Amino acid sequence: MRTRPLKVALLGCGVVGSEVARIMTTHADDLAARIGAPVELAGVAVRRPDKVRGGVPAELITTDATALVKRGDIDVVVEVIGGIEPARTLITTAFEHGASVVSANKALLAQDGASLYAAAQQHGQDLYYEAAVAGAIPLIRPLRESLAGDKINRVMGIVNGTTNFILDKMDTSGAGYSEALDEATALGYAEADPTADVEGFDAAAKAAILAGIAFHTRVRLDDVYREGMTEVTAADFASAKQMGCTIKLLAICERAADGGSVTARVHPAMIPLSHPLASVREAYNAVFVEAEAAGQLMFYGPGAGGSPTASAVLGDVVAVCRNRLNEATGPGESAYTQLPVSSMGEVVTRYHISLDVADKPGVLAQVATVFAEHGVSIDTVRQQGKDGEASLVVVTHRAPDAALSGTVEALRKLDTVRGVASIMRVEGE
Ligand SMILES: NC(=O)c1ccc[n+]([C@@H]2O[C@H](COP(=O)([O-])OP(=O)(O)OC[C@H]3O[C@@H](n4cnc5c(N)ncnc54)[C@H](OP(=O)(O)O)[C@@H]3O)[C@@H](O)[C@H]2O)c1
Repeated sequence: MRTRPLKVALLGCGVVGSEVARIMTTHADDLAARIGAPVELAGVAVRRPDKVRGGVPAELITTDATALVKRGDIDVVVEVIGGIEPARTLITTAFEHGASVVSANKALLAQDGASLYAAAQQHGQDLYYEAAVAGAIPLIRPLRESLAGDKINRVMGIVNGTTNFILDKMDTSGAGYSEALDEATALGYAEADPTADVEGFDAAAKAAILAGIAFHTRVRLDDVYREGMTEVTAADFASAKQMGCTIKLLAICERAADGGSVTARVHPAMIPLSHPLASVREAYNAVFVEAEAAGQLMFYGPGAGGSPTASAVLGDVVAVCRNRLNEATGPGESAYTQLPVSSMGEVVTRYHISLDVADKPGVLAQVATVFAEHGVSIDTVRQQGKDGEASLVVVTHRAPDAALSGTVEALRKLDTVRGVASIMRVEGE
C-alpha cells in the first residue's frame, strides 16, 4: 500500500459534510485498505468557523474555501455546500488546480452539468456525484456504468422524500395537504420553506440529471416539465383508491416510441397499487428503470439524510482515489446521441379527469363529444348525481398531453360543466 496519503478537502460541514468527516475518520483504516492508500482530511471549509463540529480538528477548519481548493496538494474536493455559487466556481477552481471533485449538488449539476464535465475533462480530472440523486441509493453509477451496454427506455422514480412522506400520510390517514405538510415539518422531513420540494423543483433537477445519463444526451433543468403536488386533495386519493391506485410525485424520463427524442417531467400521478413504486412509503425514494436487455430494475432506499448521503459521497471518494492511484479517470459526460428534448405536449399517457357538471340529460354525450373531437379516447366514465349537480370522472386511453389540454379547455367552455375539479395523469400500467 502507498504510504503517502491522498488528500481530501471538504467544502461544507453541515448535514452531509459532518457525516462525511465522521465516516472518513472512523473508517480510515478500511478506506485505506480499499483504496490502496490512506486518505486524509486536509481541510474543511465552512461559513461559521466558531461553530462546534465534533470530530473535526479545529486546525482543519477554514472560511477560505478558495484558498483550500487552490492549495495544489489536494487530490479530491468534496463539495457539499449546495447552491450555485460559490459551489460552481470552487469546483472549476479545484479542477484547474489538479483536484478531482465529488459533489452532492443536484441543483448545480442539473443547471451546469455540461460545463462542469467540460472543465473536468479539460484538466484531466474526475467529476462524480452519486449523492446528487436519491441520497444513498446507488443509481448514477448503475446507469453510467452497469447499464452502459444496454439501452434504457424509461426511468420513473420517487426522488423526493419530503413529498413522498406527505403523500403517504394523505393516503394512509385521509389527511389534507396542509395537515400532512405540518406533520412532515414537525418530524423534520420538510424544511421551513418547503417550496423546492413540494413544487417539484428538487425532483426536476434530479430528473434532468437522470435523463441526461440514461439517454446519453443533454437535458437541462429548463427542459424538465414540472408540476408540484400542493393541489393534490383527499378527494383525489379517494378517486385513486376507487381505481385501485395511489398518488405519487413522480419524475419520469422517457425515450419517445420512435426513439427520436426524449422527455423529462415531474408531476403527481396515479399509479396502480400493484406497481412496485406504489409500496414506497414514508420518506423513502425508489427509481424504476426499464432497459431493453435488462428488463425492469428497481432501486430503493433512503433518499436523503446526513449519513445515507455521506455513504454515497464516500463511495465516490473511494472510486476517485482509486482512479488517481491508477493515473486514470472515470467516465465523463456521455451526450453523444444529442437527442432533442420534446415538450410536455408530446408526452403520451392516460388521464383521470374529475368534472363538476349539471345533472341533466345529454351532459354525458356533450362531454364525450368534446373528448372525441380532440382525439382523446375514453376508457371509463363514472357519474354520481346529487341535488341537480353531478360529478363525472373520466379515465382516458393514452393520448398526447396537448390533446388532453385542448379537451380540458373546451370542456371549461361548456355551460353544463361547472368546473374541472382535478386532472391527474395515470402512469405505470
Ligand atoms: N441533506 C441531505 O439529506 C442531502 C441529500 C442529498 C444531497 N444533498 C446535497 O448536499 C449538499 C449539502 O447539503 P446539506 O444538507 O449538508 O447542507 P447544510 O446542512 O446547509 O450544509 C452546508 C454547509 O456548507 C457550508 N457553507 C455554506 N456556504 C459556504 C461558503 N460560502 N463557504 C464555505 N462553506 C459554506 C455551511 O457552513 P456552516 O456550517 O458554517 O453554516 C455548511 O457547513 C447540497 O447540495 C444538497 O442538495 C443533501
